[in-house]
Amino acid sequence: MSERKIIGSLPQKELIKMYGKYISKPKAEFFKSLGLGAIQGKREGLYINMLEGTRKNKSAIQLLDCRTSGGVFNLGHRHPKIVKALQDGIDAGLDIGDHHLLSEQRALLAKQIADFMPGEISKTQFCVGGGEAIDLAIKLARSTTKRKKIISAKTGYHGVTGVALGAGGPRFKDAFMWNFPDYEHVTFGDIEEFEKTISEETACVIFETIPATGGILIPEQGYFSRIRELCNDLGVIMIADEVQTGLGRLGTMVGIHGGLYPNELVVPDIVVLAKGMSSSIYPLATCSYKPFIGEVFEKDPFIHISTTGGSELGCYVTRTMLDIISAPEFLDNVIKMGAEFEKGLLEFKKNPELDDLIVDIRGRGLMYAIEFPNDRYGIGMTLRMIENGIFADYCGNKEDTIKLMPPLIITKEDITIIMERLEKALLSLPKPTKEEDK
Ligand SMILES: Cc1ncc(COP(=O)(O)O)c(C=O)c1O
Repeated sequence: MSERKIIGSLPQKELIKMYGKYISKPKAEFFKSLGLGAIQGKREGLYINMLEGTRKNKSAIQLLDCRTSGGVFNLGHRHPKIVKALQDGIDAGLDIGDHHLLSEQRALLAKQIADFMPGEISKTQFCVGGGEAIDLAIKLARSTTKRKKIISAKTGYHGVTGVALGAGGPRFKDAFMWNFPDYEHVTFGDIEEFEKTISEETACVIFETIPATGGILIPEQGYFSRIRELCNDLGVIMIADEVQTGLGRLGTMVGIHGGLYPNELVVPDIVVLAKGMSSSIYPLATCSYKPFIGEVFEKDPFIHISTTGGSELGCYVTRTMLDIISAPEFLDNVIKMGAEFEKGLLEFKKNPELDDLIVDIRGRGLMYAIEFPNDRYGIGMTLRMIENGIFADYCGNKEDTIKLMPPLIITKEDITIIMERLEKALLSLPKPTKEEDK
């Protein structure tokens, strides 16, 4: 019997049709209407090879990944040490493992996580994805405080599972009539509004350290410290959603602890990590917390279950990923490359040809945004970037802003290539008209 072809088993056209029929027709049509093939082929390092080309460029194209799916590909695609860890884990006899039994891999990974978590955060529960881990964080806060109210950002995003969905902005939940009582939404960064909202009825506060879907918003220094203070005063649990900002993205393992501002070392009560926890290859997410929060599990350790969350094979791969990412020289390099990246972007601000086009450039570490005059530029710039070999996209809750999150392994030479391509994309954009500005 001939071996089954894994990538490119059918022509792109047929695969798109099949995708439309069995998964989502509007999604398939959307990419088709943009002239993009959008079926991924082989991936390696910084690059995603598309199966076939675009309408404009028929030869197969290679995109430099500056999206990284929000940090999933922090180490690039199929990092050799990660691929080897997956193979070694299989060869050693690991599989998912039975979640009811005790687990060597989970214990070792939980210890490794406790070692880099700030303050007293030392306990970890494992989940499959970020939304599930956020759900757990909120459940833990409620069970600890015996209160119900949850404060989060109006344009935040924490996943599409039940509890997490409630904490996010309207775009992803209104169609599902997911506007429940007990969720209070505030403007991210507005400390006065926050002070008026938090009370002794609040169970928890949950924010992304840098809201990604909300437009890479950078809060003023002191914002999270003040929130910490208020949480302490009122007995409220502080949850940091570090799904995109954790694991080295801001040059620290936990972004809120020195990544946002090097001398602002905020210690939340719960930290959620996902995306990058998968090491790009095996889904895994974690909810880590201070011991006083886990009382509910002391009473009944079988009260919360995730059958495939914390797969033993995944845990082994993640341990290998953490060995790489948590090395001080790796994190220092993120800061260095981040400074190079920012320098490159700021050059665009000096270009008179781009004067009316760039409203703002902001970010931290290797997480940056370019804000444009209106929403049409989000999709426009996304397409222009793809035409120029860069894969990145606009923010779901702020469509005038594109988000740039390259792999953390990029070099100075890679940044030069990225900036050249971005410049070409920017220069090819139409100038905003007076009408659009109204
Ligand atoms: C900040 C943030 N939190 C949580 C999630 C949910 O993660 P998942 O898609 O793995 O459920 C996401 C996903 O994009 C996210 O960006």
